[in-house]
Amino acid sequence: MAQALVTGGASGIGAATVRRLVRDGHAVTFVDLDEKAGATLATETGARFMLADGTNQAQVNQVLTRSEFEILVNNIGADQHAFFTSTSPDEWRRLLAVNLETAFLFCHGVLPSMQQRGWGRIVMVASEAGRLGSKGGSVYAAAKAGLVGFARSLARENARYAITVNAVLPGPVRTPMVERAVNEFGGKILDDMAGLTLMRRLGEPDEIAAAIAFFCSTEAGFITGEALGVSGGMGCGA
Ligand SMILES: NC(=O)c1ccc[n+]([C@@H]2O[C@H](COP(=O)([O-])OP(=O)(O)OC[C@H]3O[C@@H](n4cnc5c(N)ncnc54)[C@H](O)[C@@H]3O)[C@@H](O)[C@H]2O)c1
Repeated sequence: MAQALVTGGASGIGAATVRRLVRDGHAVTFVDLDEKAGATLATETGARFMLADGTNQAQVNQVLTRSEFEILVNNIGADQHAFFTSTSPDEWRRLLAVNLETAFLFCHGVLPSMQQRGWGRIVMVASEAGRLGSKGGSVYAAAKAGLVGFARSLARENARYAITVNAVLPGPVRTPMVERAVNEFGGKILDDMAGLTLMRRLGEPDEIAAAIAFFCSTEAGFITGEALGVSGGMGCGA
């Protein structure tokens, strides 16, 4: 059993990861901005919920004083639905802060104690958008590509401490993030998303959580610096 921290754990892929890591026997803490959903999931799973904004360094530090985490899943993310020329500098800074800098803050906080212990697992929840690009999601895609480069760099720097750092790249997954896109663009977008995959369907949050849990496991100790598409073949050939 390890002390695990999941960011953005109150919804979608994060919530599925919390449930899965609890089932795998870990002591799970999760952080989120959504107090109501967080409290509900904590009651359901027995995981510890901490209300925190992952872009706020003081709040992140507060979370990290609670335990010496051995597993970190950087899952916080927020989508973009606008072409680049309609995206303001303030908006792209917000997207970079949420999708990329949150991972910097949590990794910066947990790595020293992982290094001291000589064991650790870090997983970035990136996206196929990061390697394939995304029409209407240029800054999101840039941030997600950044997460992969960040993971590979941390993998190189931390292998000598037996810390692995990997990225999971979901394709379209049935979560509230996708539901918000349906509300904005209509139901046809689901068919369009499914059509991007070889499997011709959306993924389920549990399917992404399974890949994350594998990278977090003891058995995955010889796998680091990898970027695994969990996307129904969307990235096939990329
Ligand atoms: N759903 C998809 O199709 C899809 C595809 C590729 C990648 N992803 C990635 O998977 C991750 C999870 O996505 P999801 O679909 O489950 O999204 P979601 O919107 O259902 O969940 C994201 C969670 O993060 C929390 N959050 C957002 N900003 C935060 C902040 N600053 N501090 C703390 N918590 C914050 C939200 O409150 C929410 O609970 C994201 O990184 C997303 O980019 C999702």
